[in-house]
This record gives sequence, C-alpha cells and structure tokens, in this order.
Amino acid sequence: MVSSTFFAPATSANLAAGFDILGMALSKIGDKVTAYKTNKSNIEIISIKGDQGQLPLDPTQNTASVAVAALLKYVGYSGGIGLEIEKKMPLCSGLGSSAASAAAAVAAVNHLLQLELTAKELVPFAMQGEAVASGSAHADNVAPSLMGGIVLIRSYHPLDVIQLSVPENLYYSIVHPNLSINTKEAREQVPQNIPVKHATQQMGNIATFVAGLYSNNLNLISNGLEDWIAEPARAKSIPGFSLVKQAALDAGALGAGLSGSGPSMFAFSDALSTAEDCACQMSDIFNNQNITSNLYFGKVNTRGAFLVTEKPDTEDLISGDLA
Ligand code: HSE
Repeated sequence: MVSSTFFAPATSANLAAGFDILGMALSKIGDKVTAYKTNKSNIEIISIKGDQGQLPLDPTQNTASVAVAALLKYVGYSGGIGLEIEKKMPLCSGLGSSAASAAAAVAAVNHLLQLELTAKELVPFAMQGEAVASGSAHADNVAPSLMGGIVLIRSYHPLDVIQLSVPENLYYSIVHPNLSINTKEAREQVPQNIPVKHATQQMGNIATFVAGLYSNNLNLISNGLEDWIAEPARAKSIPGFSLVKQAALDAGALGAGLSGSGPSMFAFSDALSTAEDCACQMSDIFNNQNITSNLYFGKVNTRGAFLVTEKPDTEDLISGDLA
C-alpha cells in the first residue's frame, strides 16, 4: 500500500508578547501521522496511539482529519484517505499537540497526493484543525510546526506568515507540569479589550524581540520577553507561576513565561547548559508543590515537519523536508 508518514514537531506559542502571532518549533517531541489512499470517499481516522483514548476518532472532530478535509476540498480531491496518528508528546500541555497532528497530517497528504505545496502553503489548512480543537483557527503553533524555527503571523485576514531569523545561540527550556489546561477555556480568559498603554508596551516588546532575533542581540530578546495581554490573565491557573518564572531568571534565563495557553512554561537562554539549569530550577518549583513535570531543552528547531522514511524513532529520521 502506498503511504506517506510525516513527523511534525511540538511548538511553543506566543513567546511572551506575541499572543497568537509568534511561535517556535521544539525538538524531538511531536506527532507522527501516516496517510494512505482508501477505496472509500471520505477521510477516516484509522487509529490513534499514545493518547490514552482521549482524542476523537470522529473525522469531523479530530484536528488532523479536519485539516486534511480542508486541504482536499481546496485541491478538489474526492477519494478516500486513511490516517494513523501517533502522539509522541503530551496532550493539553501548551506545546501545540493539536497543531502537531494537523501539521503532520496535511504534510503527509501533501506528499501522498504529490500536491507539492510548500510548508507555508499548508499552514491555512492545518489551521482549520486548530479551529475544531480550540474554537479558534490560530496559526502560531501550526506554522512553526510545519515550517520550523520561529514564525510570525503578521496578519490573519489575509493570512501572512513570516519565518524569522533565529540566532545560533538561542536555546529554549520547557517545563511541562503534570496538569492539564483546555486551550478553548484558556482563550476565554484573555481580555478582549486592553488599555492603549498596554498595547503600546506590547508592540514595543514584540518589535524589540524581533529586532533581537535579526541582530543576534540577546539583550534585546530578553527585553522583549514580557506579556501585557494573555499571561497576566492566565498566570493564576499555574500553581507557583511567579516562582517558576523567577527560578528561570535566577538560573540565567533571558526571560520566561507561559508556553501557549499553558500549563507548560518556557524560558530562553544563551547556552545549552543554562537552558538545562533553567529547566531543572523551574521543575523544582513544581516539585516543591508536589507537581511532577517533564523537562525539555535545546536549540530552537529550524527543521519543521519532515518525511519519515525509515526507523520509527524520530531522532533517527533524516530526509524529505518540506519545501
Ligand atoms: N496563541 C494560542 C493561545 C496558543 O495562547 O491561546 C495556544 O497553544
């Protein structure tokens, strides 16, 4: 049977000031999706592994199949597609789990049907998966998952996605406490109106962060890592949020904050050893509250979704990156 398997990485969205407009790709964790043609005329979720039975098999409710449906509609393909999803990352974690499934699924179908769309061109379809998962078709997880690196969404109407420069010595730490946050509910916490002075501060922070990325100036990146919109409203959902953030700063982080809608928290550092230390110190604060956590740290992943050709262990897979 002809099939295509893609791995799409987990992501951390917002990066402090960039609510819904900034996201980065992480390494090693993510989702694997295999797509193949069937002799039916619909999209089926054949299996989901690694979700402990939590995700819907109903193709109208699953982020991967909804994204694929949008892609097939666009290209006018009416044949059947089967999808096998393998979760290799935690769910409801603030690490773009729904996005990774959608991204891997559209990338796999793109390859299977030889559509030859680029990673960037697949973003609008993967976004449709987010709409079913969180009630909002935001792109700050699917875009970096497909394209890799750090991505800016300048505009949603029309969609304008810009891949940003990533300094060589920029490292992330992610701590995922063993808590679950529903993105849809977390989005309802974000204020719909903000004072102009907060908007001004936020714009300054985003511009400073982007200036830092392009000038390899980590001080600018540090100064830009401050959120005046979503984080103040959401922080109360994370036990010991301020202490975790302070622990990262004390360990030498450039800045820290919520990863996406949480509960994961992220930090940026200028060295791998600092990133590891930050992750450990942040995790200790959760431990002190009897909350276990998973730690991840590394270089920003500039690769994005890729074709899986051989072994099932993602670290060993090389080849077939999207254009
Ligand atoms: N930008 C989205 C949010 C990301 O903060 O709700 C969700 O992972």
